[in-house]
This record gives sequence, structure tokens and C-alpha cells, in this order.
Amino acid sequence: MRTFGPLGTALVIIPTYNEAENIKSIVGRVRKAVPEAHVLVADDNSPDGTGKLADELTVEDDHVHVLHRKGKEGLGAAYLAGFHWGLERDYGVLIEMDADGSHQPEELPRLLTALKSADLVLGSRWVPGGRVVNWPKSREVISRGGSLYSRLALDLPLRDITGGYRAFRRETLEGLGLDEVASQGYCFQVDLARRAVKAGYHVIEVPITFVERELGDSKMSRDILVEALWRVTAWGVGERVGKVTGRGGRPSKP
Ligand code: GDD
Ligand code: MN
Repeated sequence: MRTFGPLGTALVIIPTYNEAENIKSIVGRVRKAVPEAHVLVADDNSPDGTGKLADELTVEDDHVHVLHRKGKEGLGAAYLAGFHWGLERDYGVLIEMDADGSHQPEELPRLLTALKSADLVLGSRWVPGGRVVNWPKSREVISRGGSLYSRLALDLPLRDITGGYRAFRRETLEGLGLDEVASQGYCFQVDLARRAVKAGYHVIEVPITFVERELGDSKMSRDILVEALWRVTAWGVGERVGKVTGRGGRPSKP
């Protein structure tokens, strides 16, 4: 059995693009659910003024921070910038959370408890106890299908591989080779899960209730799905070729 060190201060990174209707509520809920944690809003210069609303929150609360980015570059790029921001500072845990309320801050203490004996915790809709509220059947089919395809193509022992409610130990992120990550959309999540498993980290799934947004619009698009499909396929083919030529394989952590 490996032993795990203490967790340290958590930074909840919330990427935003046009989340003016949601930003104050989600930050307030995080602050209430986990008062010792800090929040970093990573805003891509949202035309609806989300960044300015986030700035207002920083005036009265020194646990809230805003990273203003030049323009819309996708979820992956926003998270990478947020991770770098957090790793440059003294945070021991870095958390991914959507702004639209789909990832309930009230469930965060459970993810953090699980992280005490893991390197990475995935909030999971598709393990026993996990579920989705208010999703159209079509969206569930895409999400379940995306996880199943990733699981088989990449040989990953995980159920919810595309989900975006996660808690990383600092050391885990430092070991993933973030400088080489090029994924932009939802496949960013698959990419990080894949890297963590291949690097031998202890990755566990904790059931969550994912609640579809009530306000604002999803940024899901055909381009994002196409990117996910071709990247996952390319990774899968690359791994199989690597295994045949003896360059694949999975190291294990000491
Ligand atoms: N900064 C920034 N830049 N934020 C973005 C961008 C972007 O280009 N695109 C999306 N976001 C933010 C949104 O504002 C929101 O806070 C979060 O990323 C998720 O975006 P949604 O548009 O609500 O995504 P979703 O509900 O369709 O997708 C969720 O489920 C996917 C599939 O399971 C997310 O959790 C994804 O990470 C997940 O892969
Ligand atoms: Mn959403």
C-alpha cells in the first residue's frame, strides 16, 4: 500500500465563457461548501462580462482570483493556464469544476476525502450511485458512448472518462507532462485521465450527481466532438503500434 501525504490548500479552477448568469452563484456555493479552498475563475474574455462580475467578487473575498485570458481558446487551454497559475503558487490540490452548476460544490468534500488516498479523483456519473439530472437522452448517449469508446480504444479501467469534475494532487499534475497537452475541447479530459493511468497514478472514481445547467448555453459543438473522436482514435492506434514495436507499456509508480 502506498502512503499519501497531506492534501494542502485546494484551488477550485472554474473556466468560463459567457457564464454571467451563473458565476456569482457558483463561486458563492464553493466558498460555502469548502470555506478554506480558493477559487480561480479562468475567463476567456467573455463578451457577456463574466470576467468583470468575477472581478467584483475578488474585492470582498481574498480567496477568489481571476485569470483574464485574451479570447476563446477552449476548455483545455483555460484549464492549462489555470493549472500553471495554481502550480506557481502554494496549492496542494487543483480542482476542475464547470461554472454552470452541473458539478455541485456541495459534493466537493467527498471528492477531497477520496483524494486523501489517491493521486487523482474523478467525479463519475457512470459508476453505481452516480447519475445525471435533466439531460436529454441524446446527450446521455453521446456521453456514455464517448466514455465507452475511450475505455476500449485506450484500455482504461474507468467509467466516466470525459467528465470534468476532478481533484488532482499537485504532484499528479506535475507528473502528467502538461506542456505536451494539445487537446482543446472535451477530449482534454480524456487526455488527462489517460496520462494519469499510463503514468501509474492511483485514479479513483467517486459517484456524483451531474445536474444539467438551467441558465446560459452549453458550449458543446460538432467541432468539439470531432476533435475528441479523432484524437482518441489516434491515441488508441498509437498505443497499439507502440505495443507491437515494444515502445508501449505502463510503468508503475513506486
Ligand atoms: N475559459 C473557457 N474557454 N471556458 C470554457 C470554454 C472556453 O473556450 N468552453 C467552455 N468553457 C466553460 C464553460 O463556461 C463551463 O464553465 C465549462 O467550461 C463547461 O462548459 P459547458 O458548455 O457547460 O460543457 P458541457 O456541460 O457541455 O460539458 C461538460 O460535460 C462534458 C462531457 O462530460 C463538461 O464538464 C466537460 O468538461 C465534459 O467533458
Ligand atoms: Mn455544462
